[in-house]
Order: sequence, then C-alpha cells, then structure tokens
Amino acid sequence: AASTDYQAEDAAISQGVVESNHAGYTGSGFVNYDNLAGSYVEVTAPAGPADVTLRYANGTAATRPMDITVNGQPGAVGITFPGTGAWTTWKTKTVRLQLVAGTNKIRARATSADGGPNADKLTVTPTTDDTTPPS
Ligand code: GCU
Repeated sequence: AASTDYQAEDAAISQGVVESNHAGYTGSGFVNYDNLAGSYVEVTAPAGPADVTLRYANGTAATRPMDITVNGQPGAVGITFPGTGAWTTWKTKTVRLQLVAGTNKIRARATSADGGPNADKLTVTPTTDDTTPPS
C-alpha cells in the first residue's frame, strides 16, 4: 500500500520549534525539539499494521532516545537516534506499530534531557505483515 508522509513541521508539536536553518529537510522545515525529556511531535494516521519511518538529524555525538507511542500506549519504546554526523545529514529509523481501528495518534517523544533529534517527517507505510519487525 502507498506510504503517507507527515511533515513534522505540520504535526502537533509540544516543546519544539519549526526551523529551516539546516539544509536537506523535506517540506518547509523540520522540528527542533526543545532540549528536555517530554518534548514531542505527534501525527494522526489510519488503522492497520504499519511501518513508521522517522527522518531525522542529530549533529551531536550523543544518541537521542525517544519513545513512539500510539494513543498514549507504548508502541516502540527506547528507540535510539544516534548522531548522524551533522545537522544537515538526515537519516531514517523505522519501527513497526500496530495501529488500531479509528484514530491513531503517533507520538515521537524524547526521553532524555537532550530532547529529540531534529525531525523532518514521519512516513507511515501500511504492511500486511503484522509480526515481523522491520530491519
Ligand atoms: C543546535 C542545532 C539545532 C539543534 C540543537 C540541539 O542548536 O542548530 O538544530 O536542534 O543544536 O542540540 O537540539
């Protein structure tokens, strides 16, 4: 099935700001998470097993972990976003989530005091495989 892109700058943002000062983002910018635990970006997606890919940059040497929750429930916890080498170098991380019937609020929430990496977009790709984790 087709993927849907959700630009981070268009998402619900808590404790983060939209910026565009580091090249390589898609859309009109990216979200710079405030440097604290609890900052988040949240998008709303339809039901079904899905792979959720976060495109991010982390110009520091320290990994920035986040939890991905669905409607407030743990979906993929302790996901690591290692340094990408520069704020202009964007990489992706994919997790598989079980999205429920109705509305799915997918939240990428920083869990360390550094906050999250800079977030460009979340891509949701429906899958028929509801068991095998993505590689
Ligand atoms: C720098 C960088 C920001 C980044 C921030 C951070 O200020 O320019 O884009 O978000 O570091 O450490 O989170």
